[in-house]
Amino acid sequence: MAADFADKTAIVTGAGSGIGAEIARRLGGMGGRVVATDLNGEAANRVAGEIEAAGGTALAMQLDVTDAEAVEQSVHLAEQRWGELHLAVNNAGVPGCMLSLADHTIAEWRKVIDVNLSGVFYGLKYQLAAMLRSGGGAIVNIASILGTVGAPGSAAYIAAKHGVVGLTKSAALDYAKLGIRVNSIGPGYIDTPMLSGASQEQYETLVDLHPIGRLGRSDEIAELALFLLSDRASFITGSNHVIDGGYTAQ
Ligand code: NAI
Repeated sequence: MAADFADKTAIVTGAGSGIGAEIARRLGGMGGRVVATDLNGEAANRVAGEIEAAGGTALAMQLDVTDAEAVEQSVHLAEQRWGELHLAVNNAGVPGCMLSLADHTIAEWRKVIDVNLSGVFYGLKYQLAAMLRSGGGAIVNIASILGTVGAPGSAAYIAAKHGVVGLTKSAALDYAKLGIRVNSIGPGYIDTPMLSGASQEQYETLVDLHPIGRLGRSDEIAELALFLLSDRASFITGSNHVIDGGYTAQ
């Protein structure tokens, strides 16, 4: 495939697993210089190593997206190492509990909002500033179909993901005339380690939610993310892109 991202520097959060790892590997495989960040430093190292072993350019950084200073440092690291930041994918996330709203603990609420919403805000804040310095860029935030529709038993996760869609629109409008595009992706259920806690019965219930008859794959989400990051999506900003095997068409 053509090196669409040659000489572009990209940050991917949650790059150690699932969707983020697939996006990072593909960016690296298409010529991008990738800063792979994850709470799990070993996993980030492994993915950066895979990119390098395949002939790409990458470095890893262990960070928690709820730590605004660490997120800022990741942007500085990209700039120190490669001069400019052009692309970012705010993907890190946690699943949250499956309890009715009144049964959410305050700690659970804070954790899910901190990682899934504030983590994206910190990323945007520092990435946008860096992209202004580099003269433009593109950002993709990974939301969820649960950023578009509700479901019983996931109030914190649903609120956070709706918030990500709102942050995306807001950032897109603030920077539309300044050469930075910002979009979000709303995946249906995707077969990643995030769902590893599901029983066979729960897994089958999730499959039944998708008219296409299966869960999605990380590579299908990565395909859309790379399109939105590329110049081929030059007129697309401020939109939430649902990719869900028909889930929200019902
Ligand atoms: P995953 O569990 O395979 O990967 C998530 C990665 O994020 C892990 O490597 C984890 O270490 C990292 N992470 C978690 N908390 C972090 C923190 N505080 N700071 C930095 N890194 C942290 O999950 P998956 O499925 O790849 O999810 C990626 C994104 O896609 C998440 O935002 C998730 O909410 C979203 N999503 C996932 C769906 C699914 O069915 N798997 C469906 C819709 C959205």
